[in-house]
Amino acid sequence: MKYAIIGTGNVGSALARQFSRAGIPVSIANTRGPETTAALISELGGTVAAVTIETAVTADIIFLAIPFMAVATFARIRGDWTGKIVIDCTNAYGATPEFLAGRPSSDVVAACLAGAVVVKAFNQLPAAVLAREPAQDGGKRVVFVASNDEPAAAIVRTLAEQLGFSPLSLGRTDEGGRLIEKGAPLVLHNLVEHPFK
Ligand SMILES: NC(=O)c1ccc[n+]([C@@H]2O[C@H](COP(=O)([O-])OP(=O)(O)OC[C@H]3O[C@@H](n4cnc5c(N)ncnc54)[C@H](OP(=O)(O)O)[C@@H]3O)[C@@H](O)[C@H]2O)c1
Repeated sequence: MKYAIIGTGNVGSALARQFSRAGIPVSIANTRGPETTAALISELGGTVAAVTIETAVTADIIFLAIPFMAVATFARIRGDWTGKIVIDCTNAYGATPEFLAGRPSSDVVAACLAGAVVVKAFNQLPAAVLAREPAQDGGKRVVFVASNDEPAAAIVRTLAEQLGFSPLSLGRTDEGGRLIEKGAPLVLHNLVEHPFK
């Protein structure tokens, strides 16, 4: 599997830090070109590579760490997203209730990315917490995972484990996934799972 992160801001950088920590190769891209990420790359080095967005979207699993309202513009870079798993890390800031029309925000993201399978994850923690070492106080930091495609959700849960997190499944985006929508009860909680003794 090839991994890429779209967005080099707070969340994109935090995710890149986790890939670096885990020693897993990942590409990272923004709208301004790979040279603008030189400082982050020199700090993280090793497994993190700055690329163009065009190169980044050739990956199999793509983290979307961009503003929610930028997703439609980003999505136009490809006509067909078939075969891609897109991990939606966005929160729907800037979207009006009329725009969402009752849909989970990840379903709106999925509608922009024809053919992709979308998994909502890594969106519920503040970026500064997401960037920290996922092991804390003898436990592992929880990330919630929701998707309408269980096989893709399982792949993302496995990746989250490889990155050192404790993934918890919330089921479909319009069921448990509602709990990690912007402002929902599970957002902005730093939960750490400890093994049963
Ligand atoms: N900040 C948090 O604590 C936090 C926590 C959880 C979830 N989130 C969500 O995560 C997402 C990213 O937040 P952030 O704080 O990381 O934002 P940010 O620091 O402003 O970074 C946004 C990144 O998105 C890129 N971008 C913007 N439009 C794009 C487009 N059309 N195509 C490709 N890339 C584009 C920007 O590229 P340039 O660098 O070229 O401008 C930038 O690198 C948001 O949806 C936010 O709601 C944020």
